[in-house]
Amino acid sequence: MLSLAVLISGGGSNLKALLDAAADPDYPARIVAVFADTDAPGLAHAAAAGVPTAVVRPSDFPSRDAWGEALAEGIRATGAGLVVSAGLMRILPAGFVRAFSPRLINTHPALLPLYPGAHAVRDALAAGAVETGVTVHIIDEGVDTGPVLRQERVAVRAGESESELHERIKRVERPLLVDTVRDIATGALTLSAAEPEHTTTPYPHP
Ligand code: GAR
Repeated sequence: MLSLAVLISGGGSNLKALLDAAADPDYPARIVAVFADTDAPGLAHAAAAGVPTAVVRPSDFPSRDAWGEALAEGIRATGAGLVVSAGLMRILPAGFVRAFSPRLINTHPALLPLYPGAHAVRDALAAGAVETGVTVHIIDEGVDTGPVLRQERVAVRAGESESELHERIKRVERPLLVDTVRDIATGALTLSAAEPEHTTTPYPHP
């Protein structure tokens, strides 16, 4: 059984998808702790499932590195075998990345390497993209540059807003994240910084 520490900043719908999956005894991973960098509404999902939570705020530390060290210490204490950034809207310090990567993954609402950063959906719309998608990848020391584990495409609809498109991306993202974590837990997917596995499935998606 793979134990997960999940990092969030917001509503936590990806976290909720993992919690729901982990409620099935046949799912090979369990969430042992959820960490946030702020009072994220998504922490309520963890609390409802009886999973311990902690808020580790960057503003409580003298530097980003010190924040990363405190976060890393908290995660180590849980014994988690995989760290999942599921909507953490912060760049993790290099020391943190070195401590956990490649057993440190992120989900991102675009087809990386396109549209990295905090506004991926907005950037895709601004670029006039006809398709975008979601990427689950290993976190390295760059911003959304780590080896891609899984991707799925989402077609952009004419005239849709950032929030409409993001919601449709999330409908694809949640099961992709759940499936990717399952495959890591079973060993079907190997985490290696050197030899990423690329899997892209064709759209259309709902
Ligand atoms: C997700 O779409 C995730 O990919 C994105 O934030 C959303 C969180 O949704 N992360 C990033 O944009 C990171 N650059 P959620 O809180 O409902 O899971």
